[in-house]
Amino acid sequence: MRGGHTLRLGKQARMRKTSAMKVLVIGSGGREHSLVRACLRSPLASTVMAAPGNGGMAQEVRCFPVDLGEVDNIVACAKQCAANFVVIGPENPLRDGVIDALQEQGIPAFGPNREAARLEGSKAFAKQLMEKYGIPTAKAGVFDDLKLSIAHLDTVSFPVVIKASGLAAGKGVIIVETPAVAVTTIEGMLSGASFGDAGKRVLIEEYMTGEEASITLLVSGRHFVALPPSQDHKRIGEGDTGLNTGGMGAYAPAAVVSDRINRQVITQIVEPLLAALENEGIHYAGVLYVGIMITADGPKVVEFNVRLGDPETQVLLPLLDSDPLELMQACAQGTLDSKSVRIKDLFAVAVVLASSGYPNSYAKGDRINIPGNLPSDVDVIHAGTRLDESGDLVSSGGRVLGVVATAENLSWAVERAYAICEAIEYRSKYFRHDIGWRQMRRENGTSSPDGVGP
Ligand code: AMP
Ligand code: GLY
Repeated sequence: MRGGHTLRLGKQARMRKTSAMKVLVIGSGGREHSLVRACLRSPLASTVMAAPGNGGMAQEVRCFPVDLGEVDNIVACAKQCAANFVVIGPENPLRDGVIDALQEQGIPAFGPNREAARLEGSKAFAKQLMEKYGIPTAKAGVFDDLKLSIAHLDTVSFPVVIKASGLAAGKGVIIVETPAVAVTTIEGMLSGASFGDAGKRVLIEEYMTGEEASITLLVSGRHFVALPPSQDHKRIGEGDTGLNTGGMGAYAPAAVVSDRINRQVITQIVEPLLAALENEGIHYAGVLYVGIMITADGPKVVEFNVRLGDPETQVLLPLLDSDPLELMQACAQGTLDSKSVRIKDLFAVAVVLASSGYPNSYAKGDRINIPGNLPSDVDVIHAGTRLDESGDLVSSGGRVLGVVATAENLSWAVERAYAICEAIEYRSKYFRHDIGWRQMRRENGTSSPDGVGP
């Protein structure tokens, strides 16, 4: 398929909106803005709403203020806006049982239930499940006792990876080089000083080397469809250096996940995991995100997430030729058909525009200027933005915007995205200039001869 006219709601699609799906998207980041855009394009949705949303979502759909810290708030919001399908973006409400609570009220929702969400909410649970069912992952010991964990350090080689078992906003994984640092790291976690309750159980895990990639699946019991493999760029600095962030950019499909690796992921990880969950009496419906490390011994699980990745979502949804809302509904209803997903023959890249200083402290409130007429294959997704009292768009978070481009090859998509990254203006704009570098280095020489793509 040529071109990338994937992000705008065509007249035809608007006219086909005959169903009465009132969709509420929960969350406030780039992932959720992408979901809102996808739902707006869907002929199934009559109304799309968001809670709490951000500046970009507020320009497109009605947003409801809600504190996502309490599941009851989300349920009350869904009732207040008469939503009949709720899409949950972030992991915390899933861990807290928002799907169960919505279902109790008869409101269909997309995402795994509380029990299934332990796959992300408890790294100890995920690790023990993988060990029990022989799913390839780094070896690890699980501890909630300081003495036992320190004794275990004598049996491991360094570097070693120390992980808080619970949700720690992406910060609970520390790679340590020496036993002394390991001891202070474990003390900080087990005492609750570093990550509160999330750190009161720790994993001491073997350090793996290899290239990482993200596998995203839509799952309903034993049925699943795989979206294109993608690759995130977690570090703040170019060449993958510096502090870890929520993600500074992503692209898909990621060729590092070759057909062979992909088959291994499906047969050695995904299928055994879904069988394991069924065997344990856990019903899984929603997104399953498998972070893998491609090691010399094949792909191994780094982590499971029970929701879409951010910024991976921003590149995956534009590559879907199938209606994402229809797929999410099929997951929730248990009617997902593995043959039904259609993927475009294109590449997508998302470059995150952050606030300088992120992931440490950064300025907020910068006035943002986005060029008015974007090319049809480039889109700007909002993350940390809001509309101020005068309705002007200002920055409000560490990751501010994502510029997403699609094209027939990755280099062209990258060129198109970066042209818009340069054109967007706000005072503390910071972005990496090398998103997609691993794949482009491998492809070497595929960039368009005229430098502007097709
Ligand atoms: P996680 O939150 O578990 O995805 O970990 C965050 C990041 O830490 C991963 O994306 C990896 O880069 C790194 N990491 C986690 N576990 C390991 C491991 N066992 N070996 C090497 N790196 C790891
Ligand atoms: N981009 C990684 C994540 O969403 O967990």
